[in-house]
Amino acid sequence: MSKAIYPGSFDPVTMGHMDVIRRSADIFDELVICVLNNVNKSALFSIEERVKILQKATQDLPNVRVDHFSGLLTQYARQQHIHVVVRGLRAVTDFEYELQNAQTNRKLSDGYLDTMFLTTSLEYAYLSSSTVKEIASFGGDVSDCVPDFVAELLYAKYK
Ligand code: PNS
Repeated sequence: MSKAIYPGSFDPVTMGHMDVIRRSADIFDELVICVLNNVNKSALFSIEERVKILQKATQDLPNVRVDHFSGLLTQYARQQHIHVVVRGLRAVTDFEYELQNAQTNRKLSDGYLDTMFLTTSLEYAYLSSSTVKEIASFGGDVSDCVPDFVAELLYAKYK
């Protein structure tokens, strides 16, 4: 049975993430989305909120489950006995950061954890959770960027 972890901040999940989730769920028998802390970002939604959002957004995908973890991704992967990580690559600007993370995780895990990249579909290449939050904070239209219920939650946060 093939399994993979899709880790991220997901603050909140965007259509770009959803694209990677759906395509990964088609490739692997089981996909675990894991909400982790990115020490370089301060979050708008709590971990619990992000997990709930992801669970709702993926409720039609039977081979996807959502989890969270407060430690290193490599520790989580070993705990779960999963040695593949999936990440999306939007543009060349993502590459350096993703390469460094993938190599760090491989080194930290003594080669246990490998990273596979899916190139983000072109229509979502411009999207990021940060951009979506900025647009929503000014009351702009984020209906193409996130699932409808997430847009409502975003506007409520910025009320
Ligand atoms: O969606 P993001 O913010 O780009 O995801 C980054 C994330 C959360 C996957 C990364 O920061 C992470 O793995 N955090 C957990 C702690 C860890 O393992 N850090 C080392 C990664 S090189």
